[in-house]
Amino acid sequence: MREVAVIGTGITRFGELWEASLRDLCVEAALGALTSAGADTLDSIYVGNMSAGLFVGQEHLAPLMADYLGLGGVPATRVESACASGGMALRSAFLEVASGMSDLVLAAGVEKMNDGADVTGVLATASDQELEVYYGVTFPGLYAMVARAHMEKYGTTEEDLSWVSVKAHRNGARNPNAQFRRLISLEDVMTSTMVAEPLRMLHCSPVTDGAAAVLLCPLERAKEFTDRPVKILGSGAATSTLSLTHRKDPADLDVVELSGRRAYEMAGVTPDDIQVAEVHDCFAIAEICCYEALGFVEPGKGKDAARDGVTDLGGKIPVNISGGLKAKGHPVGATGIAQAVTLVEQLRGEAGESQVEGARIGLAQNMGGSGASSVVHIFQGV
Ligand code: COA
Repeated sequence: MREVAVIGTGITRFGELWEASLRDLCVEAALGALTSAGADTLDSIYVGNMSAGLFVGQEHLAPLMADYLGLGGVPATRVESACASGGMALRSAFLEVASGMSDLVLAAGVEKMNDGADVTGVLATASDQELEVYYGVTFPGLYAMVARAHMEKYGTTEEDLSWVSVKAHRNGARNPNAQFRRLISLEDVMTSTMVAEPLRMLHCSPVTDGAAAVLLCPLERAKEFTDRPVKILGSGAATSTLSLTHRKDPADLDVVELSGRRAYEMAGVTPDDIQVAEVHDCFAIAEICCYEALGFVEPGKGKDAARDGVTDLGGKIPVNISGGLKAKGHPVGATGIAQAVTLVEQLRGEAGESQVEGARIGLAQNMGGSGASSVVHIFQGV
């Protein structure tokens, strides 16, 4: 396999973007990635998208994107793995370059969620229709069950969950593209509206429009496009049961552990080598589970990490420095690519007031459903 580098990035603002359509968002992010690398051609395109068909009535996204980029004729493929669609699109692009088949490959991700669709219903299509949706369960409801299981097993409290959200908003306040740039207090979180007990509104990621893109090429050609390429050291993906009912232990996200282990093995690094991470905090409990599953802390210790500043900027392992899904926003198909954009900025030392000093190795973890799919990438500044 060839070594692969990220040579360009592009991202839109995240939020309720009534003025921009699905195609506007994707084109803006993709052109950003191409322009930043000074590239005007591509060998292949992957677009991560969960459900443009249900959100805005548009399927067959990949050729639409190629056409609107002015690159009609280029092979283009849409990748779907619920909220992990972006991360899986990145993995597909990585594999295509690593295999030697193509040199310049774009991985984009996009979702337009605020266009009038029944968002909760559309998102629920990523869970088990027969075993979960039929009985009325929603995603906040599923992650509430994960939270309950974690509380039972490890003594995690509602306050522990709340510190994760306080940290997310503190980080989001520094991110010019974030949906929420306001600070929130512990009390704000703990008195916000109950959505699915024990998860309150401020434990939840919001409903977001947005897009992101990264441009990849073989590492040996990267210097043709940028002085600061970022190498993809490892890529690991895994699946688990679609329904939470069938999960061996809902308190532990086994899919994150497995995808992380595969990425660590490929990269030849351990959790101790990771200096900055973006993980899938669709709900505060998911971030706590990820700390444990990725080996940043011991099992059962995830609940203390945000409160104790371990995962804060300046802490041992800063996590979700972008604001994460909670504050930056979660346009589901774009999230995995947006995580990569954040890490590339960090590893190039271009993150301004959000910069993790001296960061050279970073990890992105992107999850689908209630933990049925997960993909982890490990990056290194070169
Ligand atoms: N965090 C912070 N503020 C939020 C928020 C969130 N998650 N969701 C909404 N808000 C804010 C809105 O900006 C709005 O503020 P404003 O009055 O200043 O404009 C206000 O709260 C009301 O927004 P509204 O859209 O009416 O909220 P809602 O009750 O319809 O939705 C949730 C709130 C939490 C139910 C919704 O954000 C949600 O479903 N989140 C989960 C999404 C999800 O499941 N994603 C997939 C994960 S696997």
